[in-house]
Amino acid sequence: MRILFIGDVYGKVGRQMVEQYLSKLKSEYRPGITIINGENAAHGKGITRKIYSRLMDLGADMITMGNHTWDNRDIFTFIDEANHLVRPANFPEGTPGSGLRILSINQWRVAVMNIQGRVFLPSLDDPFRVADRLIDQARKVTPIIFVDVHAETTSEKMALAWYLDGRVSAVIGTHTHVQTADERILPEGTAYLTDVGMTGPYNGIIGVERSAVIKRFLTGLPVRFESEEGPGQIGFAVIDVDEKNGKAKRIERRLINSDHPFLDLR
Ligand SMILES: [Fe+2]
Ligand SMILES: [Fe+2]
Repeated sequence: MRILFIGDVYGKVGRQMVEQYLSKLKSEYRPGITIINGENAAHGKGITRKIYSRLMDLGADMITMGNHTWDNRDIFTFIDEANHLVRPANFPEGTPGSGLRILSINQWRVAVMNIQGRVFLPSLDDPFRVADRLIDQARKVTPIIFVDVHAETTSEKMALAWYLDGRVSAVIGTHTHVQTADERILPEGTAYLTDVGMTGPYNGIIGVERSAVIKRFLTGLPVRFESEEGPGQIGFAVIDVDEKNGKAKRIERRLINSDHPFLDLR
């Protein structure tokens, strides 16, 4: 089972990158399942029903979210029926939506989980223990389990990955929007990458219009954050998983932008 995972789609530029390149990535890599983090898809803040449907039409199988899940109120109109969307599983009990979904892909089942860290982010339920519980649930159905760990610190992401090693196929980080170069397969067969990187404006500051971010740092005054314009980038990882035991065999990461052009993607 080959998993294609695309990092945080940010605003219009991010959506255009998906429009332009998803089919190319799919024909190049031929994934069994395509998962996209969509927490910033609507102007950097949340996702709408229209964008969710469009990402599905373009070939996504599952959308993961993060701390921006509720930023666009449109989410409340469709999250309960969105069978192809997961929000962080450790949001408080009673929160709409689900943190774990299981998809049928050919004769296989693939579980997709979203979990959010607590360091420098709102204090949620314990991600480690929530993951334990959901993994037990998922493993009754399938050993192929993908985890999008949405967290700020490298240490918390790495700790979760080592904690889950051998129980899930992949723990891939999102949220910081900057791709890290530490992809590896942990000893018990879990693929790991601290952050897959953003899909959005290459010349922004983690997607945001850079003049606004600099002004905020210089003055400390409240500033309205908009998406940066201009050229885009796309950050993604490809993970190959043994369907029988759920263990990862290979992980590759790629970052495509004007400094790292498409090379083999013609
Ligand atoms: Fe994000
Ligand atoms: Fe985030």
